[in-house]
Amino acid sequence: MIVAIDGPAGAGKSTVARRLAERLGFRYLDTGAMYRALTWLAMQRGVPLGEGEKLAVLARAEPVTFDKAGRVLIAGTDVTATIRETRIDRMVPVVARHHEVREVMRERQRELGQRGDVVIEGRDIGTVVAPNAEVKVYLLADRDERARRRSAERPGIGTDALATDLKVRDQSDAERMQPAADAEQIDTTHLQVEDVVDRIQEMVRAIRTQQMGTASGSQA
Ligand code: DC
Repeated sequence: MIVAIDGPAGAGKSTVARRLAERLGFRYLDTGAMYRALTWLAMQRGVPLGEGEKLAVLARAEPVTFDKAGRVLIAGTDVTATIRETRIDRMVPVVARHHEVREVMRERQRELGQRGDVVIEGRDIGTVVAPNAEVKVYLLADRDERARRRSAERPGIGTDALATDLKVRDQSDAERMQPAADAEQIDTTHLQVEDVVDRIQEMVRAIRTQQMGTASGSQA
């Protein structure tokens, strides 16, 4: 089963998706980390971030991998911590905007999402990467609340600066951030993580029950 979790930066996707995967015993795939890792590598190697074709070649040559502990690796380097730095936050939308880059990434994401049960988090999972996902969720939250959450993860940067960064990123991500028509939208502004996870877990349970009913129905 695929559970797709989409939504803007700071809506709670990572925390919710990780926790949900843990509870369900599903694998967890963070597609944002893949765009972040590519951005880091391009900056490291001096590949211009405005050149989609070159970035796509780099993405194909150096695929992002995740180890069992959830660490993010690219070109033999563990970039788990580095890709959360503000300089990457700021540059990643520039890289993610190129359709050539997205094609390579989506292909790889489909490959990684193929085996078994998985929770996939991103922006375009329910719409493009896995349109057949059995469960689709789109998380939302007020921008002020999203900036507050980000500032807890990025100590030392003011909430105002983060709110401005988020606004710029929202605008740049906007075309990829449309919720799938069949996604369940959940506003997490006033919700606790566990409550959001409970709701999604309930959706998974409902789908499983339905699938079991269909399977036993077709056997009869
Ligand atoms: O979720 P995040 O902040 O780690 O995402 C990093 C960037 O990658 C963000 O600018 C949106 C982009 N992204 C994307 O375009 N498509 C995805 N499936 C995941 C992330």
